[in-house]
Amino acid sequence: MIKKCLFPAAGYGTRFLPATKATPKEMLPVLTKPLIQYGVEEALEAGITTMAIVTGRGKRAIEDHFDISYELEHQIKGTSKEPLLNEIRDLITKCTFSYTRQLEMKGLGHAILTGETLIGSEPFAVILADDLCTPPVTPDPNPESSLPNNQYTNTPITENSKGILTQMIEVFEKYQCSVVAIEEVPMNQTHKYGIIAGNLVDNSDDTYRVTDMVEKPDPKDAPTNMAIIGRYILTPDIFDILRNTKPGKGGEIQITDALLEQAKNGKVIAYKFKGKRFDCGSVDGFVEATNYFYNQSKG
Ligand code: UTP
Repeated sequence: MIKKCLFPAAGYGTRFLPATKATPKEMLPVLTKPLIQYGVEEALEAGITTMAIVTGRGKRAIEDHFDISYELEHQIKGTSKEPLLNEIRDLITKCTFSYTRQLEMKGLGHAILTGETLIGSEPFAVILADDLCTPPVTPDPNPESSLPNNQYTNTPITENSKGILTQMIEVFEKYQCSVVAIEEVPMNQTHKYGIIAGNLVDNSDDTYRVTDMVEKPDPKDAPTNMAIIGRYILTPDIFDILRNTKPGKGGEIQITDALLEQAKNGKVIAYKFKGKRFDCGSVDGFVEATNYFYNQSKG
């Protein structure tokens, strides 16, 4: 059972400067919701209610977002605007949020290790909120179906409306080892991702046992075009491995290097998820996500 989700959110978001000079990248909104709220909703849909957030300097807006704003609540109480706060209120009631600060931005692997104090020694999920993921089909808000509702979101569960983290937890329950979400990217994009090589274990659920991993390889050095995206289920031995992981590509402590240690023992499964992912850490991906969600909202 996965009970906690870690959100590394301490990065500088330099690709979004100047917007991210004083505003956390994770608080940039796609329509009216900040990126990190989409991530928290995805975790909650997967049955996770403990959110652990790794922040840094200049990120206090994240803490304020997942808190009550008394003045604002008082101001709009009883007006037509009050329902606009329903979704976030619901999240605050159902989840707990805890925070720790990464003092120096030494990379994603280091951020995850910083989160150990909030996670302890149990398997946990990781969401990079700037990778915005959505299931193949968005749930019908007025269903006439007799399918059971998700107990956390109160929306009907169908094979095609399962969130990416829900899908990954099912894979974890089957294999009981670390799981990374992957998607195929154009070969000329491999330098932006951790790239895996692996052997297909189960055709029916698109799972691979990982045999190799390379961080941001040039296309000529990439073993495949299967890229790791910002969703992980990690077993807690990853912390000891990270403690002993030397800085890698770009001088940063890379989660890919630590995962490769687990993969050497056959303990990493890559899962080709069902759904869409938008790289909202880049301007192009952010605009694409905005258009997609806008069109969805207009039905
Ligand atoms: P990115 O490299 O995409 O984020 O890290 P960044 O560094 O914030 O963005 P750019 O490249 O400068 O535009 C992936 C994720 O890891 C977190 C980031 O917040 C992001 O969610 N991260 C990265 C940390 O929490 N700490 C770090 O030291 C590095």
